[in-house]
Amino acid sequence: MQMRNSADRFGLPAQALHWLTALCMLAAWLLGTVVDDFPRGEPRAQVLALHWSVGCLVLALALGRLAMRATDRPPDDPPTMSRWEAGLARIAHLLLYAIMIALPLTGFATAFAQGRTVSIFGLFTVPAMIGADRALARSVKGVHELLANGMLAVAGFHALAALRHHFLLHDDVLRRMLPWGGGRA
Ligand code: HEM
Repeated sequence: MQMRNSADRFGLPAQALHWLTALCMLAAWLLGTVVDDFPRGEPRAQVLALHWSVGCLVLALALGRLAMRATDRPPDDPPTMSRWEAGLARIAHLLLYAIMIALPLTGFATAFAQGRTVSIFGLFTVPAMIGADRALARSVKGVHELLANGMLAVAGFHALAALRHHFLLHDDVLRRMLPWGGGRA
């Protein structure tokens, strides 16, 4: 089991961070989408608190991934990848990193502007860093929602591109991000 990235494979820590991030982003999106369907009061507050905690995990994972990227070079682009495709992939990855950071930050801003403090898994509470402000809450929530939907679009494009590599181009782009994927075919 390789720990560091090599020229043709991601190491185990990079794979774990990748799939954990995907899982947490999807979970945060689902929780954020259904929160208003819960009755006001305790049930809704609990779903919202879980949404905050999972969203915070996304921020922590994103920072961990950026630190890892700075110290452990990702594998090379496969030979099947054209220059335009490599450029497009680079833009999608950049957008995903930006969203992974901007989404939680706009989430915090929304919560604070709504006059709330943010409890993370009931372990600690992040105090409000800005005062309650209805108009601000409404507009930052709009940006948060826009980013959440943008995230779905970019992540969907990213996943479809990986599936195209696997099923149509038959290269190892998807397999090198899977622990059971083996080496270059
Ligand atoms: C990757 C992480 C996140 C994703 C994908 C995400 C996604 C969403 C979505 C889809 C909504 C529903 C928007 C709507 O249609 O009204 C929402 C609402 C919200 N999110 Fe997030 N979010 C994330 C992180 C966070 C974080 C870290 C916080 C705060 C610490 C947060 C705070 C909020 C708040 C306060 C709302 C509005 C809830 C309400 O008043 O109804 N979010 N989020």
